[in-house]
Amino acid sequence: MKNKKSKLKRFGVSMDEKLLEKFDSYIECKGYNNRSEALRDLVRDALIQHSWSKDDNIVAGNIMLYYNHHKRNLSEAITTLQHDCFSVIVSTSHYHVTHENCMETIIVRGKAKDVQKLKDGLMSLKGVFYVKEVIVNIDQI
Ligand code: NI
Repeated sequence: MKNKKSKLKRFGVSMDEKLLEKFDSYIECKGYNNRSEALRDLVRDALIQHSWSKDDNIVAGNIMLYYNHHKRNLSEAITTLQHDCFSVIVSTSHYHVTHENCMETIIVRGKAKDVQKLKDGLMSLKGVFYVKEVIVNIDQI
């Protein structure tokens, strides 16, 4: 009979020095004893966040993006993408955060694969600094 208990595996991670310094500050701030513990939690969270997009279930939530509107053609590209995905967009709010930078929150509802397409499209645009979604699979709750 096989032992079903999972084994710990070790692997090396290469990271930019400044990013690692910030990660270590994060670890200290959150009270972790070591990088491995913190990394395991981040990986678990990423996998949970990713799980909403696996299938054709109906999901709802929001996607936040932060970007530089002075970047050539970016605002137009964001608007075009949102029109391409209009069927899953409930509403969009735009905030002028600084002279250069804008934030948008996009309320979404629809098939997970269509919401994922919108999110991936936003992430692929140059000049978009950050995209973060909070999505629930409404078939599961
Ligand atoms: Ni703006």
